[in-house]
Amino acid sequence: MMLKHIISMRDFSRDDIDIILAKAKEFEPIARGRKSGLLSGKILSTLFYEPSTRTRLSFETAMKRLGGEVIDLGSIESSSVAKGETLADTIRVIGNYADAIVLRHPREGAARMAAEYSKVPIINAGDGAGHHPTQTLLDLYTIMRESSLSGLKIALVGDLKYGRTVHSLAYALSLYHADMTLISPRQLQMPDVIKKDLKKQGAVISETTNLEEVIGDIDVLYITRIQKERFPDPAEYQKVAGSYRITEELLKSARDRLIIMHPLPRVDEIDPAVDRTKYARYFEQSFYGVPVRMALLVMAMEAG
Ligand code: CP
Repeated sequence: MMLKHIISMRDFSRDDIDIILAKAKEFEPIARGRKSGLLSGKILSTLFYEPSTRTRLSFETAMKRLGGEVIDLGSIESSSVAKGETLADTIRVIGNYADAIVLRHPREGAARMAAEYSKVPIINAGDGAGHHPTQTLLDLYTIMRESSLSGLKIALVGDLKYGRTVHSLAYALSLYHADMTLISPRQLQMPDVIKKDLKKQGAVISETTNLEEVIGDIDVLYITRIQKERFPDPAEYQKVAGSYRITEELLKSARDRLIIMHPLPRVDEIDPAVDRTKYARYFEQSFYGVPVRMALLVMAMEAG
């Protein structure tokens, strides 16, 4: 596969995804500390116009463990963006310094637009409520390593309206013919346009507001934070805050093989007591970001 830019899961076929997951598996020992110089001499630039811990640091870890280097724009306030420099100009300039650019931006479509101006590969690290393809690939990798992508029954829970991780993930899961249950408050349902697209792909999806009624019938519970920062009206956020909370009590009716995933950060949607149960996989999931992003970086540097 020769995708120059990594913008949306819609650009990936199932074969593409399978190749990336297999590559990530090969990189796991390096992600765990084995030395490599595969990207020696290469430079990655990270541009985060929104906060991040996992995406930024796992890309940086992936690059450094492969022998490459990272230049980070730092805080937006201390860059020339604060003087009014446009995203297009910033991208054109950084393309003179780095071999690939990881971009997170609050505006949906920003990564696609940046790719039009960039001579080096752009990797979308989240564009508003749009897409977060590298998160999806690590989510799929986590399912592959900790459960199975074949015959999967999964519940996507929480903010399905604004949540870019679930938008990207639902699309990718449709390529694996997963049986998906979408669980959210009515105000935060998956947008119709995405549901239509999923159905066109042949996805099996059902919707409910009630997590208790499906907990005993799923292999993966993928819960997301209700994102306060995406609500135009704070009063609307208050109406749905705390809608779902995973507790040990709720898990009494779970299947033995259930795994719980969360892209993190969490706020109050998973009781910390759940961390000690056999179901929790969200911290392993954050580790799997490293081998997956190694695979993507190598692919991007080869295509660039
Ligand atoms: N999952 C995720 O994107 O986390 P960060 O916002 O910390 O990068």
